[in-house]
Amino acid sequence: MTDGTALTRAVYPGSFDPPTYGHLDVIERASRCFGEIIVAVVVNPQKRDPMFDLETREAMLTQCVAHLPNVRVEHFRGLLADYVKAKSADVIVKGLRVVSDFENEMSTALMNRALSKIDTMFLMSDQKYSFVSSSMVKEVYFLGGDVAALVPEPVLRVMAARRSEIHAS
Ligand code: PNS
Repeated sequence: MTDGTALTRAVYPGSFDPPTYGHLDVIERASRCFGEIIVAVVVNPQKRDPMFDLETREAMLTQCVAHLPNVRVEHFRGLLADYVKAKSADVIVKGLRVVSDFENEMSTALMNRALSKIDTMFLMSDQKYSFVSSSMVKEVYFLGGDVAALVPEPVLRVMAARRSEIHAS
């Protein structure tokens, strides 16, 4: 697909440990810009010891995007460049919250383009999510804080179950 129309296939990769309303906001924006979105849950080698395994993160996201018919969720282990080539993706989508996000994202995008010839396009999430990160959500929640305004309902349910497991052990 190369004519730049609504049939473009986009891959939105991330750790999503856990997915937040900021991620969902980017997915909804992407679903209006591109014909098909594959949300790809990835192992980020720089983030050790995720709280949720890949399958759990995929399941949470699948519930969160159920209202978006052109979005599907997958997971993979390995190099993003290989994955996007295997999926015949036209574009990689990443979200930006604040300007500092762009510093890492630019070199990552250039590396991915060098490896796959596939460009990255950036979408800004709503400014009301500019302070929301998965790591902060986990920290606040497991220290007893309320994150109901920060993560979608299916995520909140999984987090509640995990907190119960931790407290029971
Ligand atoms: O949500 P994150 O952790 O910021 O997403 C980063 C992610 C997972 C998209 C990135 O680390 C990635 O693409 N990892 C896959 C491995 C890979 O291809 N690494 C080289 C990227 S230049």
